[in-house]
Amino acid sequence: MKQRLITVAIDGHSSCGKSTMAKALARRIGYAYIDTGAMYRAVTLYCLEHGMIKGDEVNKPRLRRHIPKIEITFQVNEEGKSETYLNGKNVEKEIRGMEVSNKVSLVSAIGFVRRAMVAQQQAMGAKKGIVMDGRDIGTVVFPDAELKVFVTASAQVRAERRFKELQGKGDTTTTFDEVLANVIERDRIDSTRKESPLRQADDALLLDNSHLTLEEQDQWLYEQFVLCVKV
Ligand code: DC
Repeated sequence: MKQRLITVAIDGHSSCGKSTMAKALARRIGYAYIDTGAMYRAVTLYCLEHGMIKGDEVNKPRLRRHIPKIEITFQVNEEGKSETYLNGKNVEKEIRGMEVSNKVSLVSAIGFVRRAMVAQQQAMGAKKGIVMDGRDIGTVVFPDAELKVFVTASAQVRAERRFKELQGKGDTTTTFDEVLANVIERDRIDSTRKESPLRQADDALLLDNSHLTLEEQDQWLYEQFVLCVKV
């Protein structure tokens, strides 16, 4: 039986495992995966590289002039993993570091940055058959997505996961308390910002994965997908 193509929108707090489950689902069902957080991270890296961030201030007039010159694309590497490119350069590693993590909420709160990224995301998903994760996918980017999931987990659990991930990448300088503070601060900025604050769409399914294994959450998401395409 030929299944209809749908749009899967996965939103939620930072470091709650959204990307992991979104990637796993995309691979399992043969859909493209788009990590919209990586796009805001790449814009942040661009700002840092061009000296546009001083302390907590982003030079908005300069960034506004540069925004049309910022092209973000994704390419699947030899291992089948999607990697982020900023104006043709692979920046996958740089955008995951603490320097970008500490500033990305400032950049993603800017209206003209969001409008530019949302337009790119809508173009990428125009033909459906995508799993997209972020903060505003079910509310702003694809409000008509057939399957919407809002993922959360406690701040402590999320910081533990992020800390392990950083250590796994060889980061020996960042402490657990710094990671926890970063998670809490990003939650605050993401949910209280004026532009597209993080919130659960009315028709999104809520998943708290604090006490779920990766296999359990992947299976749960896959079952929601199957239910959705069957209807
Ligand atoms: O998912 P992430 O941690 O890689 O996201 C990085 C930042 O980008 C995060 O602070 C929130 C922001 N973001 C956003 O505002 N809208 C999205 N659709 C995705 C991410």
